[in-house]
Amino acid sequence: MPADVREVLTLIDTCRTNANAPSIDLAEFIADLSDGSVVLVAEERNEIVGVVSARPSGDSAWTRTLGIAPNRRHQGVGSALLQGVEERLLHLGVRKISALLAPGELGEEALVNRGFTVTHGLVLYEKREPLEPSDVRVVDEWGGLLLEAGLWDEAAGMTREKSLIETQIVAPLLDPDLAAQIGLRPPATVMLFGPPGTGKTTFAKAIASRLGWPFVELLPSKLASGRGTLASELHRAFVELGQLEHVVIFIDEFDEIAPARDTQPATAGVVNELLKSIPEFRRRPGRLLVCATNFVGSIDPAVLRPGRFDLLIAIGPPDDAALAALWRRALAPMATSADVVAADLARATTGFTAGDVDLAGQRAAVLAFDRARSGAAPAVVTAMDLRTAISQTRPSIPVEIVERFRIEAAEFERV
Ligand SMILES: Nc1ncnc2c1ncn2[C@@H]1O[C@H](COP(=O)(O)OP(=O)(O)OP(=O)(O)O)[C@@H](O)[C@H]1O
Ligand SMILES: [Mg+2]
Repeated sequence: MPADVREVLTLIDTCRTNANAPSIDLAEFIADLSDGSVVLVAEERNEIVGVVSARPSGDSAWTRTLGIAPNRRHQGVGSALLQGVEERLLHLGVRKISALLAPGELGEEALVNRGFTVTHGLVLYEKREPLEPSDVRVVDEWGGLLLEAGLWDEAAGMTREKSLIETQIVAPLLDPDLAAQIGLRPPATVMLFGPPGTGKTTFAKAIASRLGWPFVELLPSKLASGRGTLASELHRAFVELGQLEHVVIFIDEFDEIAPARDTQPATAGVVNELLKSIPEFRRRPGRLLVCATNFVGSIDPAVLRPGRFDLLIAIGPPDDAALAALWRRALAPMATSADVVAADLARATTGFTAGDVDLAGQRAAVLAFDRARSGAAPAVVTAMDLRTAISQTRPSIPVEIVERFRIEAAEFERV
């Protein structure tokens, strides 16, 4: 680095740290040096006393760095630099120059002297993306993606599960500083268990969406058909994804890859790999492994132990409130008669999953549609249509599965 560039950088750093210039960013200035921005330096008796950079884009430009040596402030250095930069920008076709400063920040005086007008009341919104460029490559390689915001709000009802997840998982992961201050260790590994269709996958995605972290689902079938064995591919996945600053790794049907070793000796190698990989993965904060299973009781107990899984959360069939929310959602796009009440439907559909509610709703819509098509009234979905449709729809979670779930929830849940 040439000596004068080093001197300029030192000046900028001094301004940033000592001379009330919070908006100056050294990295941005270095980028300005190399990408065609206009950079001017003021020199006096072989000493660098000021620097300005501005980035033109079409007919407008932003000044990005304005630094003045602390002992040369209020002496016109800033105004002279701005004048020089304005002249050069004018020759590049620029008609409007903007600068963003904190109130009272170094450079304000020079901008006012040069006739810049102030706009009050604008608010700066900034977002730091959760991935480094090198992270993006790793996430892509493993088929991961950033999920859209809002999945959390789309998961209807399930107040108990949502509040557990919110307080025990999302909040500590989003506020690690406060958690550290208090001594709370945010979770790194979570098992969601419960009957089919109760929302385990939905919740795993909703957590990633809520955190704003990339979501990578590891599919055992795909891993097993990769370069190595399932065990070695799992190892590689945990090592590579474990380097990311933030990630939610999701493994569905976890019982299939980690069944009790005494009942399924064939997968013992995979279980042994998990026993090594999971503690390793947990060592760095900011990453979350979410696993889901319908059969928590058949998973190797060593894998589930505290120290490997932080939280085991039972995701049960929707309760009345959840069912009412699911019904409201299913009915929202339908034309319904006044006697249709979501709470009544919820009471009549105990044991239904979100999918069952949707199916029964659509069956009722078919009845109303047929009636309307034949010219009969009413041309809306009625409570009677819904009662008929519900009686034709079998809950996809049979009573004995619900019973088994209640027992497993009592035995395995750890929150
Ligand atoms: N709380 C919920 N609110 C809205 N939709 C839900 C909710 N729970 C589940 N669903 C919907 O029900 C369907 C099944 O949910 P999901 O796939 O998450 O269940 P699962 O527990 O992962 O099932 P499986 O055990 O079969 O993998 C999805 O279409 C999902 O959108
Ligand atoms: Mg699922």
